[in-house]
Amino acid sequence: MFNAHSMDVIAIDGPAGSGKSTVARDLAMRLGRFHLDTGALYRALTWKALDQKADLEDAAALLALLGCTALGFEGDGRILVDGVDRSKEIRTPEVTRQIYRIAEKGEVRARLRPIQRALVSGRSAVAEGRDMGSVVFPDARWKFYLDGDESVRAERRWRELVPGNPSLTREEVLTELKDRDAHDTQRAAAPLVCPPGAVRIDTTALSIEDVIEKIEKIVQRKG
Ligand code: C5P
Repeated sequence: MFNAHSMDVIAIDGPAGSGKSTVARDLAMRLGRFHLDTGALYRALTWKALDQKADLEDAAALLALLGCTALGFEGDGRILVDGVDRSKEIRTPEVTRQIYRIAEKGEVRARLRPIQRALVSGRSAVAEGRDMGSVVFPDARWKFYLDGDESVRAERRWRELVPGNPSLTREEVLTELKDRDAHDTQRAAAPLVCPPGAVRIDTTALSIEDVIEKIEKIVQRKG
């Protein structure tokens, strides 16, 4: 299926605002692992589809677009789309609003799967997303599922986004987060689940540092 190297993966899944991106990035840096941010790949395809005015309901058109798109990461985590840094473009509210239309399509997910595996092939990695432990890296050596109270997750997202958008309200962020969670957990293709065998961590009352320490301890125990 895919090579043994792909199992040297710490898979981290969880809903928006669970802290998984920061945890995955910092953990990867500490452990000298590659950080695979799969949300960035879904965002990149969504951004390019919007940019090219592709029909987001046309799976064949999206697959054609993906077929002629080069996706990669710089060492510092910036995403390259066709060789150009698009780290800012992929995080606009419009991309966040539209991304479910790409993420819900099984055909698109199936085509992104080998791309995700190829990106970690031959190296140890921390892979974060919504279907890491369940679908993309089912044989990952370590699996974690980060969760937390909705209002606390929304507050984290708001703090992250408000510097770039001072008029953004907490209510807007909470509504967006609820919508996204609903799409991610209820879609038919690779819905967000706590994968079998994953360690579930409730991050509601924990700092990023607490979560990283918990994960590091478990990784070292099973190392
Ligand atoms: O992690 P991030 O918030 O950037 O992910 C954006 C969206 O991309 C998620 O809400 C989800 O719809 C989609 N996604 C996914 N599967 C992944 C990673 C992200 O469906 N493995």
